[in-house]
Amino acid sequence: MKSEINILGIETSCDETAAAVVRDGCEILSNVISSQIEIHQKYGGVVPEIASRAHIEKIYPIVAQAIAQAGIAQKDIDAVAVANQPGLTVALIVGLTAAKTLALVLEKPLIAINHIHAHLQSAMMETKDLRLPAVALVVSGGHTSLYECENALELKLLGSTIDDAAGEAFDKVASILNLSYPGGPSIEKAAATGNPKAIDFPRTMLGKDSLDFSFSGIKTAVLYHCQGQDMKAGSLAGQMTQQEISDIAASFQAAVVDVLVKKTRKAADKVGAKTILLGGGVAANSALRSELEKMAQKTGRVLLVAPKKYCTDNAVMIASLGYHKYKAGIFADMTLEAKATSE
Ligand code: KG4
Ligand code: ZN
Repeated sequence: MKSEINILGIETSCDETAAAVVRDGCEILSNVISSQIEIHQKYGGVVPEIASRAHIEKIYPIVAQAIAQAGIAQKDIDAVAVANQPGLTVALIVGLTAAKTLALVLEKPLIAINHIHAHLQSAMMETKDLRLPAVALVVSGGHTSLYECENALELKLLGSTIDDAAGEAFDKVASILNLSYPGGPSIEKAAATGNPKAIDFPRTMLGKDSLDFSFSGIKTAVLYHCQGQDMKAGSLAGQMTQQEISDIAASFQAAVVDVLVKKTRKAADKVGAKTILLGGGVAANSALRSELEKMAQKTGRVLLVAPKKYCTDNAVMIASLGYHKYKAGIFADMTLEAKATSE
């Protein structure tokens, strides 16, 4: 095997068109992302058909830019890794088609990447000595799951959300509060000047031993709370003061973080985890990062979390996990399909 392995990663599972070249799993040669946030903002969420069209427009320029910025020749790419699941199929299929085309033209292997596993790879990328077993929490707009992690390639699902994902709850609550999309960063900003103890929102635990999550109840509780503030129909949050909005945001965030930390601790105790991994868009949340860090320190564990810029969707994480699959000789063929759900 060559001494330096360059993997081209491609990501189009939701509303980011991204490509990156990563050497040997951790040296980032390029990282190009085109976000569609502005396009979807006016709809308050991602519209699949519009996302797909935007990916089609952007994918080849973004890939060309990633290769150019990496400063390598096309022939120096050793494999093309692509997120093929889970996500919006009409969006995934754009990256997948581009990846297959490139793999064919460059005569290099194609590697299939699970987007959720890739989020966790972001947390592991900078660590040489990962102490195992680890428990991994993935919190994004589409997923909230806990895994037992044997290594970068072997993850066992311990629990997941039975309704809304944590990020989805942030997005929906932000919309109730008239805060901008995507909701996570807006709620975090509003929460910074709010009182997290102002409102006692429900913490749904789903039974003593359950490692599953449920966030639809808290979203409804926020809605009822706002309606209870004597709002005019159709103009929720329209009459609340900035302080009231901040208090709701802070109390909501505290409740979600509380549930995520408690469940992660339960999972870590169950599998005797030495390390806790945190990944996904919601991992950018400072309150979650600091509460998990406190819990990890208190229980003698190490918390590994991706740098904030690699928490939300990107192709570095795809290329980095692609390297580990390359080393393990796990390749896909041209029949590879895009899948909405995770296998
Ligand atoms: O991982 P990601 O970019 O896309 C998916 O795979 O879903 O995650 C996006 C989600 C959105 O729901 C967004 O509101 C949330 O991550 N998010 C945050 C923060 N930044 C992004 N949630 C809470 N706090 C943040 N700072
Ligand atoms: Zn994601």
